[in-house]
Amino acid sequence: MKIEFAASSLPNSGALVLGIAEGGKLPGVARAIEKASPGLLKRAMDSSRFEGKKGQSLMLVAPAGLGLSRLLLLGLGKADEIDSLVAESFGGAAIAPLLASGETQVRIAVDRIEGSPFGPPRFAAHAAYGALLRSYRFDKYRTKEKAEEKPSVKTLSVMVGNVEAAKRAFAPLEAIAGGVFLTRDLASEPANVIYPESLAAEAKKLSRLGVKVEVLGVPEMTKLGMGALLGVGQGSARESRLVVMQWKGAGDAQPIAFVGKGVTFDTGGISIKPAAGMEDMKWDMGGAAVVMGLLKALAARKAKVNVVGVAGLVENMPSGTAQRPGDVVKSYSGQTIEVINTDAEGRLVLADAIWYTNGRFKPKWIVDLATLTGAIIIALGEHRAGLFSNDETLAERILAAGQRVGELVWRMPIDEVYDKALASEIADVKNVSDGRGAGSITAAKFIQRFIDGAKWAHLDIAGVTWTKKDGPVTPKGATAFGVRLLESLVAAHYEKK
Ligand code: BES
Ligand code: MN
Ligand code: ZN
Repeated sequence: MKIEFAASSLPNSGALVLGIAEGGKLPGVARAIEKASPGLLKRAMDSSRFEGKKGQSLMLVAPAGLGLSRLLLLGLGKADEIDSLVAESFGGAAIAPLLASGETQVRIAVDRIEGSPFGPPRFAAHAAYGALLRSYRFDKYRTKEKAEEKPSVKTLSVMVGNVEAAKRAFAPLEAIAGGVFLTRDLASEPANVIYPESLAAEAKKLSRLGVKVEVLGVPEMTKLGMGALLGVGQGSARESRLVVMQWKGAGDAQPIAFVGKGVTFDTGGISIKPAAGMEDMKWDMGGAAVVMGLLKALAARKAKVNVVGVAGLVENMPSGTAQRPGDVVKSYSGQTIEVINTDAEGRLVLADAIWYTNGRFKPKWIVDLATLTGAIIIALGEHRAGLFSNDETLAERILAAGQRVGELVWRMPIDEVYDKALASEIADVKNVSDGRGAGSITAAKFIQRFIDGAKWAHLDIAGVTWTKKDGPVTPKGATAFGVRLLESLVAAHYEKK
C-alpha cells in the first residue's frame, strides 16, 4: 500500500473517509458533499445515531449524487481530546474495513477540527501511520487465497492543507513502522525458517542501514564461558548465536542498551511443554525481534543516540544432548546455576547476554525484553506488559512512553524477599523458585542477579507479543509491542539535541 499526502478536494471515485468530532462541525470536504448531495450526510447520521463519538463508524456504499463508491464516516470523539493516539486509531479504523473490500484507492480527509489542539499536518501524519500499522499482513505462505480475500487497496491518500508539513511529520513515523514490520515478520515466521543462525542472518541485514552487527557463534561463546546460554541450546541441532548490534548516532556518548530473549522455539526442553498451544512458542524470540526492529527504526530515522542491541538466540529442544533438570551450569558471570526446570530457559539466556552487554559496553542502563513467564499473562493479561526496574527515573520514563504510544506497561515489585526463593542447595542460584507464587517476579529477581549494579528495567512481554484479536493499529498476530514504546523513550530523553 502506497501512502501519499495530497491537497483537499472531493474525489469522484474510490472510497472517502471522513473523521468527524463529537458534535463538531463537519470538515471542509463535507461541505462539498453537502453541495453535491444535499441532506445526505445529515440523514445518514441521524438515521444511524452517528454522533462522532470515538469508535463510531458509518459506511455508506455508492452514496447517491456522488461519484464515490464508498463514504466512511468515523467518530473522533471530543475535539479537545484528539491526540496522536486518536489520529492513529482513526487511521487504523479507516483502512481496516477497506483493505480487502475491492477498493483500490482510499482517501482520508483531514481538515482542521475546531477545538482540536492537534494541527492538521500532524493529525494527517499520525492517521497515515495508524493506517499503515493496521494494514500489516503476514501472507507469504498463503498460496491459495481467494481473489476476493486479497488486499485490494493500492494507494492511501491523506488529504491535508499543508502537504509538505504532513510529509515531514510522517517521515520518522514511516521509519518506525519499518521497524515494527520487521519485528512482526520475524515473530510470525515459523521455527523451521527462523532459528538462531537464520535470525542472526536477518540481523546482519541491518548493516545496510549503518548498524554494526557482530555475531558470536558457539566456539566464541564457549571460550567466553557462557554456560547458561549454551546449556539451553545444547539439545538443539541448530547452533546458538549471540547477536551484537550497534547504532552510533551520537559520537562517543555513553550508549544505552537493549537485550532481547531470542528463543526461536521453546519446547520446554526435557521439562517438556504440553502439546496444546506449543506452536505459540515460535514467537518466544519476540524480545530479540523487538530489539532488532527497534535498531532498524532508530537507524532508519538516523537517531542521534548510541544504542547497543544484544539478542541471545537459542532453540530449546529435548534430545540426547539436551540439558537435564538438576544440571549445574556456570554462567558467564561466574555464578553457578542449578537448572531445576529446563523450561525456565529465557532467564538463562538473558543472564549471559546481559552480563556480556554490561561488561563490554558499560551502558547508561539496560532494558531487557522477554516473553519470559506465563505468570505475567495471569497477572496482566494481553493488555499490559510487566515492568520491573531498579531505577525510578528509567521506570517512570518507560511508563510514560508506553502511555504516549499506546503500549501500556504496569510496574511490578522486586522486593529483596522474593530473591530468597532462588536459593539452591548445591549451586549459587537455581533457575526456578520454590513454590508457585509470584512467578514473574522471581524470574525478574533471577535476572537481577546478573545485572551487576547497573541501572536496569525488564519488560516481561509474554502477554502482549501476540494477539488473537485485531486492535486499533495492530492486526491479529505479532504485535511488535515494545518497538514504538522504546523508540519513544529514546526520542524523548536520550537523543542529542
Ligand atoms: N516462553 C515461556 C513463557 C511464555 C508462556 C511465553 C506463554 C509466552 C506465552 C517461558 O520460557 C516458560 O516456559 N516459562 C515458564 C517458567 C516456569 C517453568 C518457571 C512458565 O511460565 O511456565
Ligand atoms: Mn520455557
Ligand atoms: Zn521461553
